[in-house]
Amino acid sequence: MTLKGKKILLGMTGGIAAYKAGELARLLGKAGCDVRVAMTEAATRFITPVTMQALTGQTVWTDLWDPRVTDNMSHIELSRDRDLILIAPASADFLAKVAHGLADDLLSTLVLARRCGLMVAPAMNVEMWDNPVTQRNLRALREDGIAFAGPAAGDQACGETGMGRMLEPADIVAEIEAFFQPKALAGKRVLVTAGPTEEPIDPVRVITNSSSGKMGYAVARAAREAGASVTLVSGPVSLATPAGVRRVDVRSAQQMFNEVKAAVEGSDIFISVAAVADWRMKKPFAKKIKKANGRAPVLEFEENPDILAWVAARKNPPFCVGFAAESERVEANAKAKRARKGVPLIAANLAQSALGADDNAITLYDARGSHSLGRGPKLEQARKLLAHVAGMLQKAKR
Ligand code: C5P
Repeated sequence: MTLKGKKILLGMTGGIAAYKAGELARLLGKAGCDVRVAMTEAATRFITPVTMQALTGQTVWTDLWDPRVTDNMSHIELSRDRDLILIAPASADFLAKVAHGLADDLLSTLVLARRCGLMVAPAMNVEMWDNPVTQRNLRALREDGIAFAGPAAGDQACGETGMGRMLEPADIVAEIEAFFQPKALAGKRVLVTAGPTEEPIDPVRVITNSSSGKMGYAVARAAREAGASVTLVSGPVSLATPAGVRRVDVRSAQQMFNEVKAAVEGSDIFISVAAVADWRMKKPFAKKIKKANGRAPVLEFEENPDILAWVAARKNPPFCVGFAAESERVEANAKAKRARKGVPLIAANLAQSALGADDNAITLYDARGSHSLGRGPKLEQARKLLAHVAGMLQKAKR
């Protein structure tokens, strides 16, 4: 899925981040988008319309009463053929106007009269962002189904630090790509496990699997993008929760099992990406184990429940997807795992090349054989995986 041919109205409002909108317009143009720009009067104080015109090769619109639009209906015309209106930067003032349906200049009129989607990339001072009035407006905008790209936290032009920095142009482009993902899982409920589990040895020590959680989080995000309502049961990782995803934090395999049991009812799809620890201590030490004259402690383990196999063995199970990170013989192991766990689909990869990385090279194994997803960023791989799942569900319905 690319952005080639997408028609975007880039709306710019008054904020110092407006200087980044030039780069954003350039990136969108490079991605094959048709970019038309409309600026508020305040935006033109930060960057000139001439700059935006040179970058997009198109007339830039700033005035509701522009005589070039013969019947003064530019608010209708300028957005009618667009696939998306993107406001970047979106100032606190402009977001407030959108939240209340005000239309007193060209851009706010275009927004109110739109038929296409609307995405905003907020950019403002941290105090403005934190202000309860702004937060109330943001809630209203979300309830109205308006998509958000950011903001991020960090240094601000005013010298303060905190939430409200506009996302970098490349990250905004990634959000637009996400926005245009096909909604193949609309109305579906998806349950995802991600990350490692930690099994306590004593109050300060654990046994765990190496897992960054990146693949599981990418799957949760991609499922949300595809229109599903998503619950993510996550082991301990340091990743941000994907927007719109319900996240439940756990530490041990037993806790993950309990949360999956609680959430599985009514789920249509279960995707088990977590690297669940296979064993736990039979009896964790109640107090920290002390070193004792060079004698190492002997630890006794017992097996953890196999969460995926349990879900797959339920009556009327959700469509189950297992992951197999193998250190060798990927195909044979994946096929054996598919049979052993009783799941219709296994996503397999070489553990060494995926661990902690941003890229992956997954091969899918189902009843029809194997399907390589090539190599690419985990989010892209997750999108392909979910497209495959949606296809299998569609076929099963026929
Ligand atoms: O059994 P193995 O770890 O090889 O299988 C991997 C798949 O099974 C993954 O999808 C993993 O999330 C799932 N799994 C599980 N519960 C376990 C062990 C693995 O759900 N206790």
